[in-house]
Amino acid sequence: MSVAGELTTTAATDRINVDLGERSYDIIVGDGLLVTAGRRLRPLLTQPRVVIVTDETVARLHLDPLHAALAAAEICHATVVLPAGEGTKDFTHLAGLCERVLESEIERGTMLVALGGGVIGDITGFAAGILLRGLDFIQIPTTLLAQVDSSVGGKTGINSRHGKNLVGLFHQPRLVLADIGTLSTLDPRHVRAGYAEVVKYGLLGDPAFFGWLEENAGKVLALDAAALRQAVAVSCRAKAAVVRADERESGARALLNLGHTFGHALEAEMGFCDALLHGEAVAVGMALAFDFSARLGLAPAGDAAAVRRHLARAGLPTDLSLLAGRTTSADALIAHMRSDKKVKDGRLTFILVRGIGAAFVCREVDESDLRSFLADALARGQAGRPA
Ligand code: NAD
Ligand code: GLY
Repeated sequence: MSVAGELTTTAATDRINVDLGERSYDIIVGDGLLVTAGRRLRPLLTQPRVVIVTDETVARLHLDPLHAALAAAEICHATVVLPAGEGTKDFTHLAGLCERVLESEIERGTMLVALGGGVIGDITGFAAGILLRGLDFIQIPTTLLAQVDSSVGGKTGINSRHGKNLVGLFHQPRLVLADIGTLSTLDPRHVRAGYAEVVKYGLLGDPAFFGWLEENAGKVLALDAAALRQAVAVSCRAKAAVVRADERESGARALLNLGHTFGHALEAEMGFCDALLHGEAVAVGMALAFDFSARLGLAPAGDAAAVRRHLARAGLPTDLSLLAGRTTSADALIAHMRSDKKVKDGRLTFILVRGIGAAFVCREVDESDLRSFLADALARGQAGRPA
């Protein structure tokens, strides 16, 4: 993976440009950025009005400083507060959000501001994409997962009863303000889940970053400002490079789905519930992707073991013991994989590896190899044994 996004480091911030021609934008990473939001936003506005969209938890913790920053920059603002949680990413809340935004007498020049985690970013971006046939929006992500993944790249949308993220569009934000200071209120489990997505960038294309994480995981997870900023900035730079090369996922962007085919099957089997956060499913999925690659003779077994060790030390799940006590079969997991939107021409898509930092897209997986691998992984999970 080539690192093509521009990264400019100053004393206080990292600025990464997502180079997409007329849809280009900056990601700014730093501590305490929320209070600077007004002056950073001002040059992007054609009229000094924004509508903030957030959730109840984030509103309680982080809305006041944003209101103050906008007021200081003489930007009028309305605010829509949605319930917290994945359940908000549905048609009912989307309709309610659109009506509430329209009530505030928006014009084409009104900007939406998504303040929150991936749920708020995804639904707000989608609403921005369809209101008045397209409003601008910016992302102020407040979870680690949103700062390193969902706020960047323009995938927006909601869930349907047929599955996750099945209704949406590509709509790039005009700016991403990743204030690592907002993560201080995040509960440790969500920090760990977001960390899985950080590790993903090392595993898919940047072995030196994985090496750095081996040294610095403790600091990142403890929210040490310097380490956290470095982890977020490197992750965003990696994502910016992939998105620049393949904005609409016709090729290389699929690499960002490392761990997701296995992870999606696990989430689906668990019923997309809080017992398994998305980042936790990705951690298990990445460990399985490395194990499967090793079993197919594609990657060294030592790399698979190193990945599992790293994720486990970070407090993340790495095997199928979560399914212990259930009657899950390999065929049931494969059926979930088939219902994923990553299926192409009826073929399952896997991101496999040749080692740490060397992921590739594979659509040639032999289903009997997959079935026996999953059956063994399930048996080990039932027995509570690691790989
Ligand atoms: P989330 O938005 O539900 O946030 C998790 C929880 O943390 C929520 O309860 C929220 O209220 C709370 N929270 C947010 N910021 C906080 C803070 N600073 N302090 C305390 N609590 C805070 O979930 P998430 O993990 O951020 O994102 C998951 C969503 O992102 C999923 O819907 C997933 O599909 C989506 N996603 C999208 C993309 C993309 O490219 N668009 C990529 C990955 C994931
Ligand atoms: N999170 C995967 C992507 O943005 O493509």
